[in-house]
Amino acid sequence: MSVTIIKNGTVVTADLSYKADVRVEGGKITEIGPNLTGGTELDATGCYVMPGGIDPHTHLEMPFMGTYSADDFESGTRAALSGGTTMVVDFVLPGQGQGLMDAAQMWHNKSGRANCDYSYHMAVTWWGEKVWEGMEESVKAGITSFKHFMAYKGALMVNDDELFSSFRRVGDLGGLAMVHAENGDVVAELTAKLLAEGNTGPEGHAYSRPPQVEGEATNRAIMIADMAGVPLYVVHVSCEDAHEAIRRARAAGKRVWGEPLIQHLTLDESEYFHPDWDHAARRVMSPPFRNKEHQASLWAGLMSGSLSVVATDHCAFTTEQKRFGIGNFAKIPNGTGGLEDRIPMLWTHGVATGRLTPNEFVAVTSTNIAKILNLYPKKGAVLVGADADLVVLDPEKEKVISAGTQQSAIDYNVFEGHKVKGLPRFVLTRGQVAVDDGAVKTQEGHGKFVGREARPAVNRALSQWKDLTAPRPVVRTGIPATGV
Ligand code: URP
Ligand code: ZN
Ligand code: ZN
Ligand code: ZN
Repeated sequence: MSVTIIKNGTVVTADLSYKADVRVEGGKITEIGPNLTGGTELDATGCYVMPGGIDPHTHLEMPFMGTYSADDFESGTRAALSGGTTMVVDFVLPGQGQGLMDAAQMWHNKSGRANCDYSYHMAVTWWGEKVWEGMEESVKAGITSFKHFMAYKGALMVNDDELFSSFRRVGDLGGLAMVHAENGDVVAELTAKLLAEGNTGPEGHAYSRPPQVEGEATNRAIMIADMAGVPLYVVHVSCEDAHEAIRRARAAGKRVWGEPLIQHLTLDESEYFHPDWDHAARRVMSPPFRNKEHQASLWAGLMSGSLSVVATDHCAFTTEQKRFGIGNFAKIPNGTGGLEDRIPMLWTHGVATGRLTPNEFVAVTSTNIAKILNLYPKKGAVLVGADADLVVLDPEKEKVISAGTQQSAIDYNVFEGHKVKGLPRFVLTRGQVAVDDGAVKTQEGHGKFVGREARPAVNRALSQWKDLTAPRPVVRTGIPATGV
C-alpha cells in the first residue's frame, strides 16, 4: 500500500494547532507526529494541514425550475476538490408522488462519477403515507437528514400541518430536520404584485423576498421543531431576522443550528441593481443577497458561535439558463455557484481579517457539520483512523477568482475579480492526491457514498428530555360525583 507523508506543516483542527507530520496509508491517517519518514513526501512548509472542507449544501445536476443545474457530480466535485472541499452533501429531490428510495436511486445513478466522497440529505417535497413509510427506509439507507421547503409555493413547498407531521416522524426516527425557511405564501403574493406593477427585472427577486419572510419562517420552523421534539438545521441563513430567531432558540436551550453561505457573507444586495441584466440575474438565489448590516450579523454569528456552518448551496446555472427569466424575474432559475471558492473566500474574508481564528475556520468549514451529521471523526478530523480527507492550505498563495480558470461548468463566477489569499497546495481525498502543488488531478469515480447512522447523541438527549416531560394524566383522589 502506498504511503504518503505530509511533512513540515502545522496541523490545525477545530481545537488545536501544532507542528507535526501526518502519515497517510490505505486512505486513512495512520500516524501524526514529528519527523515521520518512509513514503512519498508532500512538503507542507509554511502551510496548515487541516481537515478537508465539507460542503453540506449542494445541488448537483438537480431538476429545478424547468431545467437542470449545470454542474454534475463530476464537475461539481472537481470544483470542490480544487478549492479544498473533500466532501459534499447533496439533496435528493423526489418528484411529486415519487417514492423517496426511488429518488435516492436516481441520485446514486448520477453520483457514480464523483471525484470525492459524498452523502445525501432527503428532501420532503410532498406529503403522504408513501413518504412517511419511505422515511424509515431512507434512514436505514444512511440518509438521515430531511429538508423541507417552506418556499417555492406550488412546487416544493410543504404546509405547516405537513411540516409538523414530518418533523415528528424525523424525530421518532432519530434524524435531523432541515428547512429552507421563507414564507412561501407571502413570497407568492409579493411576486404577483411586483410583476403586475411592472417590476419584472432581477431586482424584483430581492424585493419579493424581504428579510421578514425569512425571519418569520425561521421562527415558525423552530417552534414547530420544538413541539415535535426534533433537532433543526436551518439552511442558507441570510439575515439578522433569521439569525435572531436562531440565536434566541439556542439561548433557550433548543437544538437548532444555522448555516450562512459564503455568498451572503461576502456579496450584497447591490448586485441586483447592476445595470447589466445578466450580471444581476446570475446572482439570483433564494434567499437573496442582503445589505451590509445583515452581513455583519452573519459574521458576528460565526464569531460568537450562534451560527455553526458555512456552506455554498452550490446550484449553478449558465447565463443561457438564467435568461429563461427575461421579462419575468420569477422564472430566473434560483441558484449560484461557490464550491471551489468557499474555502479561499472564507479564509480571506474571515481568517485574514481577524474575524475567525484558524481553528474556528476549521470548525465552520468541516468539523461542526461532521458532528451535526454524525460523520465525525471519520470526516472532519485530523486523527489517527480518520479518512485522509485533508487540505494543505498555503496562507501566502494568492489568485484572482475568474470564470476563465475555474473548474465549474458554468460561464461566469459570482466572485469574479475577487482577490483571495490562502489557497490549497495539496488536497487529499481518502489519501489520493487530488490537488498536487496547486495542479488539479482528480479521478472520476473515486468518490464513494457515505451513509450515516441515525440517533446521534443530541437526538438521544432530546428523546430523554421528551420522555421526562411527556404529558401524563394526573392521578387524583376524591373524584367529584358526575352529578348524573
Ligand atoms: O436559490 C437557491 N437557493 N437555489 C437552490 C435551491 C434551494 O432553495 O436551496
Ligand atoms: Zn433552499
Ligand atoms: Zn439549496
Ligand atoms: Zn472579496
